[in-house]
Amino acid sequence: MEPEQQVEIQLGHLCNNRCVFCVSGQRTAMGEAHPVAADPVVAKLEEARARGIDKVTLLGGEPTLQPEFLAIVRRAVALGYREIVVFTNGVKTARASFVDEILATGGNFTFRLSFQGATARAHERTTKKLGSFGRLVESLANLHARRQRITVNMCVVRSNQDSVEAFPALLLPYGVSQLHLDMVRPLDAGVRTEAELREMMPRYSDLVPALERMIAGFPPGFDVNLGNLPYCVAQDLAEHIHHDGEKTYTVAVDHDDALSEPWDKYETKRRDKRKPASCSDCVYEPRCSGVFETYERFYGVSELVPVRTLPVVDRGLASLRELAGRAADPRIGAGLLRLHGAGPFAELTVRGARLREDGQAAAIDLEHTSGVRVRLAFAVQGARLAGRYALDRPAPSLSGPGLTAGVRAAMTALLAE
Ligand SMILES: C[S@@+](CC[C@H](N)C(=O)[O-])C[C@H]1O[C@@H](n2cnc3c(N)ncnc32)[C@H](O)[C@@H]1O
Repeated sequence: MEPEQQVEIQLGHLCNNRCVFCVSGQRTAMGEAHPVAADPVVAKLEEARARGIDKVTLLGGEPTLQPEFLAIVRRAVALGYREIVVFTNGVKTARASFVDEILATGGNFTFRLSFQGATARAHERTTKKLGSFGRLVESLANLHARRQRITVNMCVVRSNQDSVEAFPALLLPYGVSQLHLDMVRPLDAGVRTEAELREMMPRYSDLVPALERMIAGFPPGFDVNLGNLPYCVAQDLAEHIHHDGEKTYTVAVDHDDALSEPWDKYETKRRDKRKPASCSDCVYEPRCSGVFETYERFYGVSELVPVRTLPVVDRGLASLRELAGRAADPRIGAGLLRLHGAGPFAELTVRGARLREDGQAAAIDLEHTSGVRVRLAFAVQGARLAGRYALDRPAPSLSGPGLTAGVRAAMTALLAE
């Protein structure tokens, strides 16, 4: 059982939106974004497959605008990628025939749609593109009608921060399985003046009431991720906060639109973050990377207050039983029940569990005492159950044998048919 890894490939910067926080729209507007050739991308796909990576995210710019987009998807399918994530602004996928062309490649897709606001007003104030919200909603309908896996991403800026509580009503009817809200990252925003950065960057504590109302609007267990929000400003939402994701190698485009060597995405994304010394006493310290330097310049760090005690409540373990009762496939139900019976798992606490809509797969989130999060995923594959796990970052040396022992015990329970 190998931890999950993925490769992200940036297909140029060309984009048809002009998001206030994004380098790609800005470079397109300046005439600095170009179509990318298929061959170098295919070479990166081949390299990653040769290293055993079988999940790829295609992003950009807007990947679907690239003339070679479908050819690249076809190659990813032929190379045996188990999952192809199409990260898109949903403008082109509003055309059902385009979705059908993507699906005709035979790949197993996740569509990651970028809503830059949960209302038309918030989204279009942010993308600067009239009509872009309606196209996204059409994309939701097209993808849902074709039973595709849909996740949603948003970059939190001032122009969309208040809209978030409209997300549950917007997304739930279309079976969206995950919502990720990422705090704006100044280093990815392109060339901006201080005034523009100030205009877009919200103060984190101001976001909390709307985020709380949004999360209350989703059913328990719905996968909401809040990226880069410091834990101490929203302790009640801590179980949703992540400062890193699954191990991701990113192949980006450089100034000449050439593809870079793969680099570790989360190591790079932490480089402009900082924490005051007082954070060393905080129970969230191992998993919190602090705030962006630009944020500190604008707002200071007085909001960051060390948290002394971390309530460890095994709320999730009981939920496994309830979820087992709802599993359409009896093997998934039985796996969840075995997991319920076998817990607790050494130093791991069950934080939540979810079923995939078709009932053929489930994911269970656990948390180690060091703060490392572990996601177990298992699914019906042919006649048997298959499983894998992913850590949200490399295990710290201090985690000792408890982490490994816990993961092993949980995976054994899940898969012991
Ligand atoms: C760069 S776009 C590329 C794919 C596609 N054009 C789309 O809109 O989904 C991917 C995601 O990056 C996020 N993003 C771009 N710039 C960002 C920034 N400065 N901070 C945080 N997220 C950002 C956007 O929210 C978007 O969901």
